[in-house]
Amino acid sequence: MSDTPETNATQPWLHVVLHEPEIPPNTGNVIRLCANTGTRLHLIHPLGFEINEKAVRRSGMDYREMAPVEHHDSYEAFLETVKPARVFAIETGGTSSHVDVNYQVGDALIFGNEGSGLPQRVMDNLPNGEVLTLPMMPNTRSLNLSNTVAIAVYEAWRQLGFSIE
Ligand SMILES: C[S@@+](CC[C@H](N)C(=O)[O-])C[C@H]1O[C@@H](n2cnc3c(N)ncnc32)[C@H](O)[C@@H]1O
Repeated sequence: MSDTPETNATQPWLHVVLHEPEIPPNTGNVIRLCANTGTRLHLIHPLGFEINEKAVRRSGMDYREMAPVEHHDSYEAFLETVKPARVFAIETGGTSSHVDVNYQVGDALIFGNEGSGLPQRVMDNLPNGEVLTLPMMPNTRSLNLSNTVAIAVYEAWRQLGFSIE
C-alpha cells in the first residue's frame, strides 16, 4: 500500500500504529501529535473514513502533516514491512502499566479502535512486547483513543530525554 503523500526515508524514534481507526477527529489529533513528536504514524486498514487530500483539508488540517503517515493492509503487513524489534499493545485490561517499560528507539506502540479495541489476534502476536494499560479509576471503561496515544507517546519520549535527533 502506498504512503501518503510521500515517505520520510529516515527511521523514526517511535512507530505509532492505529488499528482500523473509526473516528476521523481522533486520527487527526494523532496525525498532529506524531508530527509534533517526530514519531511515524501507521494506519492499519480498513479505516472507518476516507482519507484523501480533500477530506484532510476539510477537517482543517494541513495536508503536509500527512507526510509521515504510512498505510498498511493488515497488522501482519505492517510487521512484514517495518520489522519493528518490539511491539507493545496499548489496551485496557493489561497486567503491566505503560510506565513499567524501558522504551527503546525503534519501538512500536499499537492502539485499538474506538468501537472494539485491539483484536486478540494482534495481542497474541507482539514481537518481544506485551499488553500495557494506562491506569484509570475503578468502574470506568476506557480513555479516548487520541488521549491514550498522547499519554503513551509522551511517556516514551520523556524516558528518552525528549531527544529531537
Ligand atoms: C476507546 S478505547 C475502546 C476499546 C476498549 N477496550 C473498550 O472498552 O471497548 C480505544 C483504544 O484506546 C486505547 N485505550 C483506551 N483506554 C486505555 C487504557 N486505560 N489503557 C490502555 N489503552 C487504552 C486502547 O488502545 C483502545 O483500544
